[in-house]
Amino acid sequence: MKTFRKDFFWGGATAANQFEGAWNVDGKGPSVSDMCTTGSKDTPKRITATIEENTLYPSHEAIDFYHHYKEDIKLFADMGFNVFRFSIAWTRIFPTGMEKEPNEAGLKFYDNVIDECRKYNIEPFITISHYEMPYALVEKYNGWYGRECIELFERYCHAIFDRYKDKVVYWLTFNEINAGTMPMGNVLSLGTVQGYTGPITGVKDDPKIRYQALHHQFVASARVVKYAHENYPQFKMGNMICFMTTYPATCKPDDMLKAQREMRMKNWFCSDIMVRGYYPEYADRYFEENDINIKMEEGDLEILKEGTVDFYTFSYYMSICASTDENEKLTGGNLMGGVKNPYLEASDWGWQIDPKGLRWTLNSIYDRYHIPMMVVENGLGALDTVEADGSINDDYRIDYLRKHILEMKEAVKDGVDLMGYTPWGCIDLVSASTGEMAKRYGFIYVDKHDDGTGTLSRSKKKSFDWFKSVIESNGENI
Ligand code: BG6
Repeated sequence: MKTFRKDFFWGGATAANQFEGAWNVDGKGPSVSDMCTTGSKDTPKRITATIEENTLYPSHEAIDFYHHYKEDIKLFADMGFNVFRFSIAWTRIFPTGMEKEPNEAGLKFYDNVIDECRKYNIEPFITISHYEMPYALVEKYNGWYGRECIELFERYCHAIFDRYKDKVVYWLTFNEINAGTMPMGNVLSLGTVQGYTGPITGVKDDPKIRYQALHHQFVASARVVKYAHENYPQFKMGNMICFMTTYPATCKPDDMLKAQREMRMKNWFCSDIMVRGYYPEYADRYFEENDINIKMEEGDLEILKEGTVDFYTFSYYMSICASTDENEKLTGGNLMGGVKNPYLEASDWGWQIDPKGLRWTLNSIYDRYHIPMMVVENGLGALDTVEADGSINDDYRIDYLRKHILEMKEAVKDGVDLMGYTPWGCIDLVSASTGEMAKRYGFIYVDKHDDGTGTLSRSKKKSFDWFKSVIESNGENI
């Protein structure tokens, strides 16, 4: 029976804007995330046009990885990581996104981070854009709605590819690119919030703008993938999808069809383009019914074909249901919620926990594309308690991760070609949806709190040693 590959990637995942801090240090410019205040489960984060005094912006200090990277990477190495997924902040390299030349101090910082990983034989696994478009591009072009961003993104990618060509192999172009198929994508990934200030849930959504902006991201991604393949054949280029597995709430044919529609436009649409190289037929009907006419330039459809990715990656936290019955109970979620599944329990933030859904999802994706895959985010956002003796007994997290790893193993037995697993927020960091610190995912606790206080000291949770032994045994000792 098959089991995890010998060279399986075990590690963790992070994003620059959620853990680096040092938001305006060494020439870095502000990104959309830097303009977002803190929020909570009940109060949405706000976007401000300028930095307000006496207001907390969680990305500004975050957990200050910028000044703690040596200590943090050493802890990852102690845990046995052989891979570390992190993102490069576009605004460290091009502070407004529009400069002609890259910022040397920014490039140097990532040299240091990559070298530190390599020192411990940790493979750097880089997300090029993770929810942090330069704010200057929001102001000037309404974010990705402006076609100009394609070239600016290419300039950024060429700079980092050319600089790190000898020490990085794995690249993901856009984190959770399918965020752009949902209203939340305006803030998170597309930056289509020009002139908007206020709660992130209050952005006026226009699907015409959203899908146009998303098209520009597809073209940008394909162009840089093609550039990488032509210039650096050793590179392996991947996509990244937020997979929100959607079951029909009942076997009623209408529910079946509704679930299929949602699966297509929310989960499959982006990867159909990035893996297969063309807009899927089912999207035509959706565009027609929603009066969406994407403006394309000559060569766009060709480049999508020429810039397809080498492997498929995704985040998986939960599943939801789709129903045609409007009275069904609803549940929360990261990019979107859905109808409640009576067979599942949920986290404190209302995200339904569904390990078997991960097996189902891995099998479905592999059936469709037949290329190597990797789970690059998964985990439980939970409140942790520090005991009087300093210990943190996060058995609930161990339980969540264990069940998901066991289901990944089943999927491998089912025939899926799985490259690795990098649980989200391997070290506590700022929550993307709420801006909280209290929603923790880490194996490593960081003394930093929602009000911005804390010593920033790092300590191991119970899950640290557990995950270390999982890694040592390549997933056998679980
Ligand atoms: C994913 C994002 O959607 O979910 C991460 O790629 C994010 O950036 C993660 O942090 C968990 O979501 P949250 O809202 O709990 O931080």
